[in-house]
Amino acid sequence: MNILGIESSCDETAAAVYDGSELRSNIIYTQKIHGKYGGVVPELASREHLKNIIPVVYSALNQSSMTLDEIKGVAVTQGPGLAGSLLIGIAFAKAVAFSRNLPIVGVNHIEAHLWAPKLEYPDIECPFLGLIISGGHTQLWNVRGFGDYTLIGMTHDDAVGEAFDKAAQMLGLEYPGGPVIDRLSEKGDSKYHKFPKPSIKNRPYDFSFSGLKTSLLYYLESKSKTEIEDHKADIAASFQQALIDSLADKTFLAAKNTGVRNIVLGGGVAANRALKYLMKSKAKDENIRIYYPSPQFCTDNAAMIAYVGHILLEQNKVSDPGFSAKPSMKLAD
Ligand code: KG4
Ligand code: ZN
Repeated sequence: MNILGIESSCDETAAAVYDGSELRSNIIYTQKIHGKYGGVVPELASREHLKNIIPVVYSALNQSSMTLDEIKGVAVTQGPGLAGSLLIGIAFAKAVAFSRNLPIVGVNHIEAHLWAPKLEYPDIECPFLGLIISGGHTQLWNVRGFGDYTLIGMTHDDAVGEAFDKAAQMLGLEYPGGPVIDRLSEKGDSKYHKFPKPSIKNRPYDFSFSGLKTSLLYYLESKSKTEIEDHKADIAASFQQALIDSLADKTFLAAKNTGVRNIVLGGGVAANRALKYLMKSKAKDENIRIYYPSPQFCTDNAAMIAYVGHILLEQNKVSDPGFSAKPSMKLAD
């Protein structure tokens, strides 16, 4: 069944076609307008989605060499995400479904991130631990099968991507900060300064990044401008190390305690090279299989929405025509 997937939950307008066994197209437009504001501006994001959704869907159909006549179902992100942004994708997807008399399904964005690695690694076995790390989310899931999830870890404050972005801002770097810190850190010494290891009492798999951010702020305030300029790469690398150590330590502790031997990653921060290196070497030491999607499937994309939408539609889980955006949509508790 050919499924058109649409994603517009944050600042990526994306469309993809999945035919049930292969991805036929995957188009992602990342909005550039937010750079100068140092973060996503919801109102501007909605307007950008409105401007780009038709060209993006056209491109996805073109790339798949299909026409709308060959599409048999529509899947669209229902939440979580920015209300206005979600509504653009949902309204457009509904229009397509209505005009073509196609079934439509609203997809949970986090569920889609959890299954995205399947597009490249179809043989991933359940159970697996899914670490979803982005600008909006830091969650660790135990996935026993499709629709069978337990949230075992989450952030108590900032998402890890937000910590990267805010740190970059403090260091006078561009937005989004994650990729910039990633690149800069390659030239730095990650042992230059030891930032504290955040931990939460009785919640061994939960994360907290706001204290780390504050310690970076105090650290920068205590140094001269020249010292910061001369050691920017070292500071960035040290801060990055604290973030990725926290992610890796908690994920591998969860793997040890639950006995789950497969780990998948998703979300923009999964593109971080130092994290990838660290996770892969830990996995090797502990004989755990780790699945890393390529960057186009880590960041927000519609391929993962079409993939999950395909499973749901095959199970006849069609959404009610009146369904709306759920900005705080839950997957499970
Ligand atoms: O999944 P995503 O594209 O969008 C959502 O937030 O949902 O993730 C974007 C986040 C941003 O915070 C960005 O700084 C971060 O992912 N990011 C990275 C890297 N690439 C993107 N963080 C660290 N290292 C990277 N290479
Ligand atoms: Zn996402």
